[in-house]
Amino acid sequence: MRIRSLASVATASGAVVAFATLGVSAQGPTMTMAPASKAVAVLIPTKTGGGIAGTVTFSKTEKGTRVVAALTGVPAGNHGFHVHEFGDASSPDGLAAGSHFDPKMAKKHGDPAKSDVRHLGDLGNITADESGKATYDSVYSDLPIDLIVGKGVVVHEKADNFGQPVGNAGGRLAVGVIGVAKGE
Ligand code: CU
Ligand code: ZN
Repeated sequence: MRIRSLASVATASGAVVAFATLGVSAQGPTMTMAPASKAVAVLIPTKTGGGIAGTVTFSKTEKGTRVVAALTGVPAGNHGFHVHEFGDASSPDGLAAGSHFDPKMAKKHGDPAKSDVRHLGDLGNITADESGKATYDSVYSDLPIDLIVGKGVVVHEKADNFGQPVGNAGGRLAVGVIGVAKGE
């Protein structure tokens, strides 16, 4: 842990005196980070993603994390929509984002509307109309914002049919990196 090692280095170099002067306990300064109340991902099209643009926001509500997406340029129909394990949008095929985010090691792909036993990143499908507008709005009680900051969000080529292992949603049309946003 980086914080702990910094504190012990500081203590070893005699900084305890400085802590005392500052009114901080000799056990070292406490560094607390407030939990994020909002995060955002700006989507970047892959080489097959055409002109997809838009954002996905994650905001804290009483019932959990509300995920709202507003995209344009998406081919009409359903597209698999997931949080992936890496916040890496650097590859033209989107594969650098890795697989579905699965911190609970469920090792099972699923429909969030039907099962809690799923990759935590399984968000189902996002649906685009004939004009290419796609919207999404769902609340998740089991998807804390702090857990997904730094991860990726992916819009797939095809619909997620919830088959194993990853929903048969095909290639990747867009990838975004989830970052902390200014809270409301
Ligand atoms: Cu995916
Ligand atoms: Zn999955």
